[in-house]
Amino acid sequence: MQPGSAAILTQDLVKRFGSFTAVDGVNLEVRRGEVFGLLGPNGAGKTTLVRMLTTLLPPTAGNAIVAGHDVARHPRRVRQLIGVIPQAMTSDLDLTGWENVDIYGEFYGIRRRERHRRIERLLKMVGLSERGHDLVATYSGGMRRRLEIARGLVHSPEVLFLDEPTIGLDPQSRRAVWDLLEQLRKESEITISLTTHYMDEAEMLCDRIAIVDRGKIIALGTPSELKSLVKGSDRIELEVEGDIERIMATLGAAPGLHDAKREGENGRLTVRADDGAHLIPRIISDVEAIHGHVKSINLQRISLEDVFIEFTGRSLRDEPARKVSFLVGAGMPQQR
Ligand SMILES: Nc1ncnc2c1ncn2[C@@H]1O[C@H](COP(=O)(O)OP(=O)(O)O)[C@@H](O)[C@H]1O
Ligand SMILES: [Mg+2]
Repeated sequence: MQPGSAAILTQDLVKRFGSFTAVDGVNLEVRRGEVFGLLGPNGAGKTTLVRMLTTLLPPTAGNAIVAGHDVARHPRRVRQLIGVIPQAMTSDLDLTGWENVDIYGEFYGIRRRERHRRIERLLKMVGLSERGHDLVATYSGGMRRRLEIARGLVHSPEVLFLDEPTIGLDPQSRRAVWDLLEQLRKESEITISLTTHYMDEAEMLCDRIAIVDRGKIIALGTPSELKSLVKGSDRIELEVEGDIERIMATLGAAPGLHDAKREGENGRLTVRADDGAHLIPRIISDVEAIHGHVKSINLQRISLEDVFIEFTGRSLRDEPARKVSFLVGAGMPQQR
């Protein structure tokens, strides 16, 4: 890859399955060394996009350059330079952790001695040195995931693709995978493309995030840039007593506050604020000035969820997904 060139560059990338458009004209530029997140609800088209970038699926239109090579014209070269950790667990249960990585290393033509040196280092990095010679069947989900990350790194790729790396893991294992990715980002030059539908994961790990919905990128930036796209980056939750309509009108007219909303029938309201901490005392006195009473007040910084709602009018969590099942071992989505 040329120094300074993008690790991933796509132009109007499209994937259609029959009449259904899963990826709808994606333009992306991921810089070298960056941890780049694709965040979106189930069915948004993230896996399909990654499958094109990793040469597993030919694009319907547009093009993509990964690690300096066109995915459609030079898939073999791209494959040499990328590591792929698909959404479904793909390590072989009947082999040991060591053997799983060793076979991969052999595929990539790494000589035995060098391979063994790397496997030792990688198993250590992912915290599996002690368990390397146990069958993967005896591993927990988190250990398997960590092994697969080690396997994805055995040929020292320039770009690592991880699709939903912590899906289905318990909180402790998620944390271990996050720590591992954090370490990788600090200690290596590798570019990481990470797909997730977890906002906390994207926010914690990624330098920049593209929010994907229905095959399109609807917003792109650092987590804080994305949040600042939403007017009123703080959310204030209130529980009030008194004339609710009048309180709503007062809050609605106050400078620095936006989007006052009722949340149910029992005096719960939310309002967006540009600088919530400084507006809280004024909110309380404004409500009292019209003979209302603030029973409780709570300030929250908006989340990427709010950014998603701002752009789509829907929640990231509640999007009903078209059903996709996974072939065990292949990590390949199949339409049901
Ligand atoms: N091989 C396929 N054939 C037909 N439709 C597919 C196929 N793969 C994915 N899709 C559809 O494309 C859409 C995007 O799927 P996917 O890329 O897996 O989304 P995500 O990874 O964001 O959850 C979904 O509606 C899914 O059903
Ligand atoms: Mg997916």
